[in-house]
Amino acid sequence: MSTTERSGDIRTRLDAVIHGESSMRVPELVKAVLIDSMQHGALDLPASLTTPRPDSYARRLLHRDPSGLYTMVVMTWGPGQKTALHDHAGIWCVECVVDGRMEITQYDLLSEDGGTFRFSEQKRVSAARGSAGCLIPPFEYHTLANASAANTSITLHVYGGEMDHCHVFEPAGDGSYRRVTRALSYHG
Ligand SMILES: [Fe+2]
Repeated sequence: MSTTERSGDIRTRLDAVIHGESSMRVPELVKAVLIDSMQHGALDLPASLTTPRPDSYARRLLHRDPSGLYTMVVMTWGPGQKTALHDHAGIWCVECVVDGRMEITQYDLLSEDGGTFRFSEQKRVSAARGSAGCLIPPFEYHTLANASAANTSITLHVYGGEMDHCHVFEPAGDGSYRRVTRALSYHG
């Protein structure tokens, strides 16, 4: 089966779930589609979408639903590359490890006071190839990191819309964080 047919098949299944189900169930159903798709043949992405970048992880658009209900984004993580603590601007997301291994750390927001945010670290998960997880607001704070110091990892993200910005939380030095709005775009 060709790359186009494989990713096209996933899109057909995602279209059915995202356009056909009540919104409450969608993230878990998307997660099931991604896990099942990975179990029945790897998502064989073209090299143009999976080439690492030296300066940071790469974020590239795989598919944008014409009616705007979802986007599929491929991220490529060189050894040691990771995100800052961030949110998803209120958009649900399902993230699947396509290759390699990722470390995902979830945070709970404890308080917000005058622009000062405090979090507690919750679960830290080592996610292998083929595993997937949901991020559903208001539980949307996390960091992602390539768990390998030697190899590239690749993840596929399905967003419930187009995430054109998020908020990054920068350490203030006393255990608290300041929130910074970050515009998001796609690498070529
Ligand atoms: Fe994220």
